[in-house]
Amino acid sequence: MTDKDLRLGVNIDHVATIRNARGGGHPDPVRAARQAAAAGADGITAHLREDRRHISDDDIQRLIQSIELPLNFEMAATQEMLQIALRHRPHAACIVPEKRQEVTTEGGLDADRGREVLKPYCDRLAEAGIRVSLFIDPDSRQLEAARALGAPVVELHTGAYCEAFIEDMEGPRARDELVRIQDAAKLAADLGLECHAGHGLTYDSVKPVAAIASLVELNIGHFLIGEAIYVGLDSAIKRMRAIMDEARADGLGARRA
Ligand code: PXP
Repeated sequence: MTDKDLRLGVNIDHVATIRNARGGGHPDPVRAARQAAAAGADGITAHLREDRRHISDDDIQRLIQSIELPLNFEMAATQEMLQIALRHRPHAACIVPEKRQEVTTEGGLDADRGREVLKPYCDRLAEAGIRVSLFIDPDSRQLEAARALGAPVVELHTGAYCEAFIEDMEGPRARDELVRIQDAAKLAADLGLECHAGHGLTYDSVKPVAAIASLVELNIGHFLIGEAIYVGLDSAIKRMRAIMDEARADGLGARRA
């Protein structure tokens, strides 16, 4: 990796959402993961939710057995999920907050107030050789807490920025939310944390985020699976990859100029 490389993790949860709408095995998220790898994804992300609304236990087992890309296992901080992670030993585990009623992961973890609860999870996962990541809002208190917890990686929640971007991409709210992400990514690097980001990113909203030099990975799911309906997963991923690479190169060029 150089400072110009930006990894793309493809979240395949919503392939399972479509499968589960009818039951049965089609479409298979593991097939989507293989296709994502062939299209240039650097990793696969899957969230085993407590209510199993999309990804299933069997999906996780098959992903571990059959994909070569690193698996980023998103999990709530529960004993059940910890045991599953320890059994499968994915490359990475991203601890996310989880509420049963939410449609998607609505905000970041409160790593600051949740230090005592999170510490044993971070420690057990790290002891098992799993790279721990905490999904947090772009906020200095949360970053300091992640470092205190010994997590090597943080993933910044880009949802507030993406919502503001949809409302008015050039408006003050989108700009402020982007600055929060830029500042948090810089602080993460200063604290020695590897910094990822994701949630709600699209071909358009990804550009200013991909230009942030200290971000090393973006995790993108819903938009890519939605686009795949129109253009196929392969094309959607290749286009996202190209946009990310171009934005990163432009960002580096602008900093040098
Ligand atoms: N990163 C994390 C930690 C997530 O929980 C999710 C999905 O909620 C994503 C990235 C991808 O978000 P999206 O599906 O909106 O692209």
